[in-house]
Amino acid sequence: MKKKAVIIGATSGIGKALARELVKNGYTVGITGRRKNLLLEIQKESPELIQIESFDNTKPNALKHVESLANKMGAINLLIISAGVGHINFNLDYAKENETNQLNVIAFSQMVNWGIHYFENQGHGHLVNLSSIASLRGGRAAPAYNASKAYQSNYFEGIAQRVTRSKLPIFTTDVKPGFVKTAMAKGPKMFWVASKEKAARQIFKSIQKKKRIVYITKRWRIIAWILKGIPWLFYKRM
Ligand SMILES: NC(=O)c1ccc[n+]([C@@H]2O[C@H](COP(=O)([O-])OP(=O)(O)OC[C@H]3O[C@@H](n4cnc5c(N)ncnc54)[C@H](OP(=O)(O)O)[C@@H]3O)[C@@H](O)[C@H]2O)c1
Repeated sequence: MKKKAVIIGATSGIGKALARELVKNGYTVGITGRRKNLLLEIQKESPELIQIESFDNTKPNALKHVESLANKMGAINLLIISAGVGHINFNLDYAKENETNQLNVIAFSQMVNWGIHYFENQGHGHLVNLSSIASLRGGRAAPAYNASKAYQSNYFEGIAQRVTRSKLPIFTTDVKPGFVKTAMAKGPKMFWVASKEKAARQIFKSIQKKKRIVYITKRWRIIAWILKGIPWLFYKRM
């Protein structure tokens, strides 16, 4: 079977690094994002292996674009959702919260819905999403971001349960990165910041192993364990 993947949100950051990692491993890759000039630049690296489609996930015609890309490529067997937004938002500016919800919740759900029906019709496939370590607890710095990532992880668990019951060879991977050095990584107290190349390598390995949940980089599993265990008495002061 030919290895064909679509990455939603690959003009920059982890999505772009994943596109390169997949091409290196013999995949034909379809990449998306709003910045068409960046898509064209990445395509130049391997024109015969990279297809592009430029659109905004939050616009009503987004799924038409995804479908058109999948049709151009023939059957795809891997769909990775890497598009996401997050703002440090101590002022609780609603426009920022809403932008986060529109992309990370509404558009995300639409993409997953499309992807899962596509794979069920086809009889096989692998759906991957980049949530975050932020999915594990609420956060005053970016309440909508943490909540939207919790939504994504919870949604993926539901989809994982659905595909398990279907008994079809359909897999899901919920990728939970800690800090990865991209435009998205913000905040004064960052630590254990991984390069996007290292993150992409580890994500690709976990896709190959069909892991359901993975922390990137691996040692963020320790932070996850600590974070989940902090009692509210302390957490509320952090
Ligand atoms: N970097 C980290 O430390 C970190 C940590 C935890 C989780 N994550 C998650 O990892 C994912 C990738 O983030 P990143 O760090 O690689 O950030 P990034 O470099 O900002 O990449 C985000 C990607 O999403 C696309 N995108 C944003 N808004 C879009 C929209 N409305 N429509 C279509 N595409 C859109 C961007 O393309 P255009 O702007 O061209 O549209 C870009 O390709 C996100 O879901 C993020 O929450 C990142």
